[in-house]
Amino acid sequence: MTADLFDGVDEVRPARETIADGAMLLRGFARPVQHDLLRAIDGIVTQSPFRHMSTPGGYQMSVAMTNCGSLGWVTDRTGYRYDAIDPDSGKPWPDMPPIFRELAGQAAAQAGYADFRPEACLVNRYEPGARLSLHQDRDEENYDAPIVSVSLGLHAIFLWGGLKRADKTARYRLEHGDVVVWGGSSRLVFHGVAPLADGEHALLGRQRINLTFRKAR
Ligand code: SIN
Ligand code: FE2
Repeated sequence: MTADLFDGVDEVRPARETIADGAMLLRGFARPVQHDLLRAIDGIVTQSPFRHMSTPGGYQMSVAMTNCGSLGWVTDRTGYRYDAIDPDSGKPWPDMPPIFRELAGQAAAQAGYADFRPEACLVNRYEPGARLSLHQDRDEENYDAPIVSVSLGLHAIFLWGGLKRADKTARYRLEHGDVVVWGGSSRLVFHGVAPLADGEHALLGRQRINLTFRKAR
């Protein structure tokens, strides 16, 4: 065994990893459709461009966001909600591209959640330094359906905690094409994203794009 054979390999990355009960990381799952996804994202952002939304507390988020699907997640001074209308354009959010639906449904099924039909897809853009503090996804009407989260571009460190904010967090490196699915007893786990490290991705440049699929109603 020569040392250089393993140069740059800092961990073994199994194709799928159980993160917790009901939560799974599917590595590289979105790679076969990466070009279709990027084309579809371009179409979405021409209709509903990325914007930095404000939190109810008055802070501007470092992650830029847009949505597609019949409902989009928004935040402003009045709170968090799902809305059928893009507040910037005054029009409905762009349709969810069929490739998005298929990918989300297949990833959910792989993780044990059959018939996942999300009506909301939040598109998050992280530039170097952008982060998402620990939170629970709890703006949906019920928590029966899982969350499906697709990572594209620069890698991120995903923080995975417990059901209490103060619970200790594990760190997972999410690479281009990785998909995380969480539901069941993990549905309300606190999670977040550490400040994005700078870098240059071959397809996406200096950014990470995350697609988060949810059944909101
Ligand atoms: C989210 O929690 O909504 C997004 C997570 C991510 O960007 O990986
Ligand atoms: Fe989240």
